[in-house]
Amino acid sequence: MSTVTITNHPLIQHKLSILRDKNTPSKDFRALVSEIAMLECYEATRDLQVQEIEIETPVAKCIAHNLEGKKLAFVPILRAGLGMVEGVLQLVPSARVGHIGLYRDPETLTPVEYYCKLPADISERDVIVLDPMLATGGSAIDAITQIKKRHPKSIKFMGIIAAPEGLAALEKAHPDVDIYCAAEDQRLNEIGYIVPGLGDAGDRIFGTK
Ligand code: PRP
Ligand code: URA
Repeated sequence: MSTVTITNHPLIQHKLSILRDKNTPSKDFRALVSEIAMLECYEATRDLQVQEIEIETPVAKCIAHNLEGKKLAFVPILRAGLGMVEGVLQLVPSARVGHIGLYRDPETLTPVEYYCKLPADISERDVIVLDPMLATGGSAIDAITQIKKRHPKSIKFMGIIAAPEGLAALEKAHPDVDIYCAAEDQRLNEIGYIVPGLGDAGDRIFGTK
């Protein structure tokens, strides 16, 4: 069964309050999405494997640790997941980045895929899928189904705000995928928006509304 981690660190909660505020302009919104993603990524990468290496400091030789193997690939779900990429790459600059383009059909709320480009060596990498909003869960479920066809070592999902409905659907569809979010909100409204949420994440990041 998936583990769900709500990273309710005070710094994340503070930034999330500003993010939710409808008066926060796109410029600040973008910066906050990136910062929250970076802080969450610290938690989501806690179980990365390390190996011992010998190094020489200016004072003495010692055994230190570095990350083992081919490490990570981040896969943002377009568009809004793009806002999280800069922050996570600040923590893991050597990670590869794949992209999956999906949008929710406004009538049916089901995901429509329009783009998929993943790193060639994804089967040797742990994947973290990025999307700030987990609403019905349809987009995340579909993206993860596509990624699984390329057999990565493991997959995690990292969002910012999740609805209970989306968490339940994602856990049911992909019980092997651990989930990291900064908040679990109350519910979805009648048009599939998270309440209280933050509105349309893509529009707020890119200023398209
Ligand atoms: C938003 C969001 C997620 C999706 C979540 O994208 O970024 O991808 O909705 O909803 P779900 O859990 O019900 O699938 P949107 O469809 O608005 O596309 P956009 O990022 O291109 O604006
Ligand atoms: N997508 C968003 O951007 N916001 C929501 O509340 C739900 C889906």
